[in-house]
Amino acid sequence: MPFQTLRGATDLLAHDLTAWRRLESSVFTIAQRYGYRELRTPVIEDAALFLRSVGETTDIVQKEMFRFTDRGGHDIVLRPEGTAPVVRAYLQHHLHKTEGFAKLFYLGPMFRAERPQAGRLRQFHQYGAEAIGSASPWVDVEIITLCVHTLLECGVADATVWLASMGCREDQARGAQHLQERLTPHRAKLCEDCQARFDRNIFRVLDCKQPGCRALAQEAVKSLERQPGLPPTPFVLCEACVAHFNTVRQGLKAGSIAFDDTHVFARGLDYYTRTVFEVRSPRLGAQDAVAAGGRYDHLVEEFGGPAVGACGFAAGIERVLMAARPVDPVPVAEARQGVYVAIPPKSNLMPEAFRLAQRLRQQGTRTTMDYDGRSLKSQFREADQLHCQVVAILGAQELESGSVTMKDLAGGEQRTLPLEAFLEAVRA
Ligand code: HAM
Repeated sequence: MPFQTLRGATDLLAHDLTAWRRLESSVFTIAQRYGYRELRTPVIEDAALFLRSVGETTDIVQKEMFRFTDRGGHDIVLRPEGTAPVVRAYLQHHLHKTEGFAKLFYLGPMFRAERPQAGRLRQFHQYGAEAIGSASPWVDVEIITLCVHTLLECGVADATVWLASMGCREDQARGAQHLQERLTPHRAKLCEDCQARFDRNIFRVLDCKQPGCRALAQEAVKSLERQPGLPPTPFVLCEACVAHFNTVRQGLKAGSIAFDDTHVFARGLDYYTRTVFEVRSPRLGAQDAVAAGGRYDHLVEEFGGPAVGACGFAAGIERVLMAARPVDPVPVAEARQGVYVAIPPKSNLMPEAFRLAQRLRQQGTRTTMDYDGRSLKSQFREADQLHCQVVAILGAQELESGSVTMKDLAGGEQRTLPLEAFLEAVRA
């Protein structure tokens, strides 16, 4: 085979797409139920959009963006994530003026030049939601609830929500200083990436892909003084951030959304402040995050908009489908659908058969036919393989009498009906 998909990119065949369509339809239904409206943004964006939001020191920007310069000299990337484009669109289309608080959801391909492995692709798909224009902790509660609700609807029943607060920018600065102090004696043991990120973004050590770095960071965090009423965290939370975090925890409890706030973690994108979460599934291997998100209270302002808060999440569709319990396949007998228009080979009835197929399609009937002059036996075999319900036979006799012979592939009976009566019977 001279041509194959690139590593980390996949074809989706019809039988894969049954589950995809079911997922898409569940996501649309649930997102709409929570008042989110769909938004689609382009796959290509200005590279600066992600440098300014996801952050220059992050893995995504440093090594995972598919980035190229077009003939006009523009620095372009295939979007690695959906939040920055949604915020760009929110401002570009003045939703901050017309809607103020905007609740948006999206679904589409994302691109990251990562080393492919199970659950880690270079072209993958996300669905997600962003609630832009509010600083209320109840928005965080709604976003996490919506995320969990969509996952449940998609069949992911046994996932765990990891919850934490990364605090405000000041809390992050204080936390960074503490973590740097604790990690300085171990600096030489950190991987090259973490050493480079040590001064500029120490929290990356917490989500480094090298387990050794993560373990050192965890130890360092454990050695920090516990803040009263809070799980262990590298972020030194101020009073307002503690109150925000507590309201989120209280809100999730009120909505019976189970969460685990005992893990020490940070999200690997720069825009996060306060609430962050990851949803992990025991059915996945090393790449166990099915969904993740959090609050980003400065991004809108950093993109030139008003100083308003925002919160969102994204789920990886391929991972959701891997983590979902398998759905029973539709029984073949029930799946029989539509008409196969069959004509005797060499009968010159193609124009009439095609006209009949078009009438069926126009009335809404799924219709297939043979274009290669194969034997009637082959046409029946194909009709069966395609799970058609009816074969409509159009031979010379039928043509002369203005009728169609229909054979029901499920029941087996066969009858000849005038054309209009046949169309009516199929419609019924
Ligand atoms: P993220 O954690 O980078 O966050 O990605 C969200 C989800 O996308 C992951 O939990 C995972 O399921 C899936 N995912 C990420 N990378 C890959 C990959 N290479 N292959 C397969 N699946 C992958 C974001 O993208 C943020 N925009 C989430 C967010 C929305 N935060 C606020 N609003």
